Amino acid sequence: MNVVILGSGKGSNARRLLEAERDGGLGRARVTAVFCDRTEAPILQLGKDFGVEARFLDPGPYRTKLTGEWEAAYIDSIEAKQPGLVVLAGFMRVVKKPFIRAFPGKIINIHPSLLPSFKGLNAIGQAFDYGVRITGCTVHYVTEDIDGGPIIDQEAVRIEEGDTLEALEARVHAAEHRLLPGVVARLSGE
Ligand code: GAR
Repeated sequence: MNVVILGSGKGSNARRLLEAERDGGLGRARVTAVFCDRTEAPILQLGKDFGVEARFLDPGPYRTKLTGEWEAAYIDSIEAKQPGLVVLAGFMRVVKKPFIRAFPGKIINIHPSLLPSFKGLNAIGQAFDYGVRITGCTVHYVTEDIDGGPIIDQEAVRIEEGDTLEALEARVHAAEHRLLPGVVARLSGE
């Protein structure tokens, strides 16, 4: 099963997927491309580190959405890889109907909270500020309902007394790095 990853930043989740594939922990899934909407993002380094195609795709003039000819170019580049799965791993843009319809039931997203709580940006900070005792991360199918598609799996993370936001972020990211490769492996029909 071909997997295309979209990301915007650090790329630690994409890196974990590539490490899992290298170590035999990604089932029948093969990462065939990593596409990024920012020219300088560290995620692009994965091309050199893992010998996978990793490149910038121009997202167009808008800061948070993907639309029009730029959306069409994303769809074409992804379709060319014949993906069984498209993984949004820190892709900080809203994808819209044409994109979602191009890959029906094949787009998943990782989000750093226990959805449906704390949708949107800065989810770890939202949970920390709210004072919940348990947060975590979620992998879900992407639909037009932002951060609202069917949940595939979750991992809980407890917020300890005296926790700092930085310490909590590190534990949520560690949970994401455990959760996502397992989900991709399962979806590959492992
Ligand atoms: C991850 O924590 C992911 O859950 C989050 O961005 C981070 C990307 O990190 N995504 C969202 O907040 C989407 N709403 P990474 O680039 O190191 O994988």
